[in-house]
Amino acid sequence: MASRKPARRTSPRSRTAPAAAQPLVVIILAAGAGKRMRSALPKVLQPLAGRPLLQHVLDTARTLAPAAIHVVYGHGGEAVRRAFAAEPVSWVEQAPQHGTGHAVMQVLPHLRPDQRALILYGDGPLITPQTLTALLQVAGRHDVGLLTVNAGNPQGYGRVLRDARGRVLAIVEEKDATLRQRRVRECNTGVMTMPVDGLTAWLRRVDNRNAQGEYYLTDVIGLAVRDGVAVQPLVAADEQEVQGVNDRVQLAAAESAWRARQSRRLLLDGATLIDPARVDVRGSVTVGQDVVIDVNVVLEGDVKLGDGVRIGPNCLIRNAQIAAGTEVFANCVIDQALIGPSCRIGPFARVRPQAVLAEHVHIGNFVEVKKARIGARSKANHLTYLGDADIGPDGNVGARTLTSNPPPRRPAPPRGRRHQRRRVDDLAHGPGGAVDAGPRAPGFDTRLEAARQKRNSMIALHAAVALGR
Ligand code: UD1
Ligand code: MG
Repeated sequence: MASRKPARRTSPRSRTAPAAAQPLVVIILAAGAGKRMRSALPKVLQPLAGRPLLQHVLDTARTLAPAAIHVVYGHGGEAVRRAFAAEPVSWVEQAPQHGTGHAVMQVLPHLRPDQRALILYGDGPLITPQTLTALLQVAGRHDVGLLTVNAGNPQGYGRVLRDARGRVLAIVEEKDATLRQRRVRECNTGVMTMPVDGLTAWLRRVDNRNAQGEYYLTDVIGLAVRDGVAVQPLVAADEQEVQGVNDRVQLAAAESAWRARQSRRLLLDGATLIDPARVDVRGSVTVGQDVVIDVNVVLEGDVKLGDGVRIGPNCLIRNAQIAAGTEVFANCVIDQALIGPSCRIGPFARVRPQAVLAEHVHIGNFVEVKKARIGARSKANHLTYLGDADIGPDGNVGARTLTSNPPPRRPAPPRGRRHQRRRVDDLAHGPGGAVDAGPRAPGFDTRLEAARQKRNSMIALHAAVALGR
């Protein structure tokens, strides 16, 4: 076990110690009840940009390549663990919850004295890898690193007390602070790092004789200073980055801070956003040159937009690739689709999973495409459902066209054959120029035949409808 007092920073042993690797472990505190959210959902599962708060913190923690990530859970614990079942983290239960210091005490049996701990909050989703790396750097190998913030409104936070020379002395929680201490604007963000041997020794000396009857992690700071270990402060440049989420007002503020951050990145990557406050990136988006995104566009999951892609207003694009030069007009939903170059989609089109569009394809208003491949230069401009179909190149699918499986009037095909694909590679048109693939259209075969013979009819309709017969 670690010694009660960690080595002083200036001790000969530490000065001459070889620079052996000091593995990093991350501890994420996520056991708090989050009562102020007034929600049945545990706080750390509340979504920010479509992902749970805790997911953001885990993703950031992972960029530091730590030896382990320990998540302290408590309130709603099973739901939290279930939500992150696939994450390679170690779960440490804290029940009941007696404060942040008590939370970290639960993790101590899982730590080794030669490690360095970095403590994060599960409800602090906006913290960046850059800030954490900078904090680890200022702390070096032996010191404590403390991330602080000059808060516009310090109410509710622990205050950072410094001496006349600016050295950090301690943190005092607001409820325990004197009026004079409450006037301090520099606050504790909760993010701190220290050697595990020190952490262990200091936590043993933390008690709960304070206004809240809790074991405060913040008391560790004063104890380190008393042991002669320097506490290196890093003042966060951006207050929003260290803002915790305690209620839905703060959740909305975090969402808009996230939105601003993502929009800024897209702008710097060369995209034009007509209004950066009205584009929501909820995933990872890459853009080519000269992409233009109009207002009220939501981009979810993995989205790739090629050079010159233009997205009209009110579109949702999720897990999709849109190749260069394609224009998506207003009010479209594109979900898990591959869209080739120079296509025109919408307005009011829905392109659903496994739709694959080649180049120069036109998908017009009230057209739905699902599990269908559309060949180069083919068009479906109006009121059409193309499902489970292969549409050849240069086709023109008229309004009212419907391809789907299984067909409505025929007996269901045997299991495993339900989703036969239709091949549409020949031209056909019905009265009024409509190709009608549905078995509900009486006399369709006759019309199809007639259309075949009238290949060069005045209606330039180059669709083909496979009837599966
Ligand atoms: C804490 C800090 C305060 C700091 C503020 C920043 C302490 C004593 N105070 O106060 O100095 O300014 O954060 O937001 O640390 N948690 C547990 N188990 C518990 C209690 C809390 O896991 O028993 C977790 C919570 O889920 C949360 C974090 O620790 O992620 C902070 O807890 P919270 O109750 O919000 O602490 P504050 O009172 O805000
Ligand atoms: Mg808090």
